[in-house]
Amino acid sequence: MSKLKLGMVGGGQGAFIGSVHRIASRIDDHYELVAGSLASNPEVAHSSAKELGIAEDRSYSTYLEMAEKESNIENGIDVVAIVTPNHLHYPIAEAFIMKGIHVICDKPLTHNLEDAEKFFECVKNSSALFALTHNYTGYPMVRQAREMCHNGSIGKLRVIQVEYAQDWLTLPIENEGQKQASWRTDPSKAGMGGSIGDIGSHAFNLVDFITGAKLTELCADISSFVEGRKNDDNAHVLLRYENGVKGMLWSSQVAPGNENALKIRIYGDKGGLEWEQENPNYLRVDIFGEAKKIIRRAGNETIDVAGRVTRIPPGHPEGYLEGFANIYSDFAKQIIAFKKNQKIEDELLLVPSIEDGLKGVKFISKVVESGLGGSKWLKF
Ligand SMILES: NC(=O)c1ccc[n+]([C@@H]2O[C@H](COP(=O)([O-])OP(=O)(O)OC[C@H]3O[C@@H](n4cnc5c(N)ncnc54)[C@H](O)[C@@H]3O)[C@@H](O)[C@H]2O)c1
Repeated sequence: MSKLKLGMVGGGQGAFIGSVHRIASRIDDHYELVAGSLASNPEVAHSSAKELGIAEDRSYSTYLEMAEKESNIENGIDVVAIVTPNHLHYPIAEAFIMKGIHVICDKPLTHNLEDAEKFFECVKNSSALFALTHNYTGYPMVRQAREMCHNGSIGKLRVIQVEYAQDWLTLPIENEGQKQASWRTDPSKAGMGGSIGDIGSHAFNLVDFITGAKLTELCADISSFVEGRKNDDNAHVLLRYENGVKGMLWSSQVAPGNENALKIRIYGDKGGLEWEQENPNYLRVDIFGEAKKIIRRAGNETIDVAGRVTRIPPGHPEGYLEGFANIYSDFAKQIIAFKKNQKIEDELLLVPSIEDGLKGVKFISKVVESGLGGSKWLKF
């Protein structure tokens, strides 16, 4: 398989997630980074491109110039990764989609619902393929949990508890110019969802991915504990799903001692499942009345869906980068099938989609609406 030509917007010097995308794109050798508009500041963009070995004539000062030129040259990029702050995801994606270039975009889809709806239409009315990097869906033990929920291993679903807690915004570091904190606490760039948009969106997506439960109503209590902060840094959300399933979601970026504590517990009438992102190679399974069980990644009880996204033997940890790479690899296979006019296999469609993106932004916006409106129950 020849490598797909990848471009990137954002991810220049000093940025966080761009380098994770670059590593993920290389793990299975499906992509080659050949072009970029890597920063808002053209000087930084060009010096970042030079450092990464991108040819001078394929380092662009603006994403519009990049979309225009890359779509008009022989061997232009097949796909672009968008790793900028949230408010730019849609305009950037639109510029490339209009040129028929496939898009990998980081979460949340957009900073507001209006853009998310336009983004959805834009993808649906194009032939471009789209992937959203809700990367936790790429972990083998998350895939295993999904399968066990769907095949009835824990019985009829009853209760969902999910949380994503961090502590890095405990102090007002945005006032000291911390790059990642500055835009995340600015509603015009991040959106009105603070913690709920940044990490609550991952937690919501994880529940959706694993259980498939349909959210019908929610009630949120959101707070900005740090004085002067305009969007939430903590959110508690009660969730009602179809068929009487009840859930709770907690997102916080002001919980000292928590780094990336994404944790999910799911209970049915036969048993429960528990998974933690910081110890991702293990899935705890409790069948009521039986001894507790830990399923290990690549162990005897790992099922095929988890096995196909596993690289190395058990005991050697796999985690964030490999999970991200699983999304990248499955999306590469989607693009290859598309190019060859072949059917895209179902297993590749576990990659988070534009539908997931729109649902996520709708969730964020309903949480904010409920939270700011006196914690009323709202239909989803
Ligand atoms: N999936 C995950 O686990 C995960 C983790 C972190 C961040 N994210 C998401 O990734 C995105 C970026 O987050 P980050 O923490 O890397 O932010 P960051 O501030 O570290 O990096 C943003 C980059 O975008 C660039 N940029 C801004 N405007 C631009 C423009 N007009 N043209 C080109 N580049 C431009 C900046 O110069 C910078 O290089 C956000 O949407 C965030 O929610 C996802």
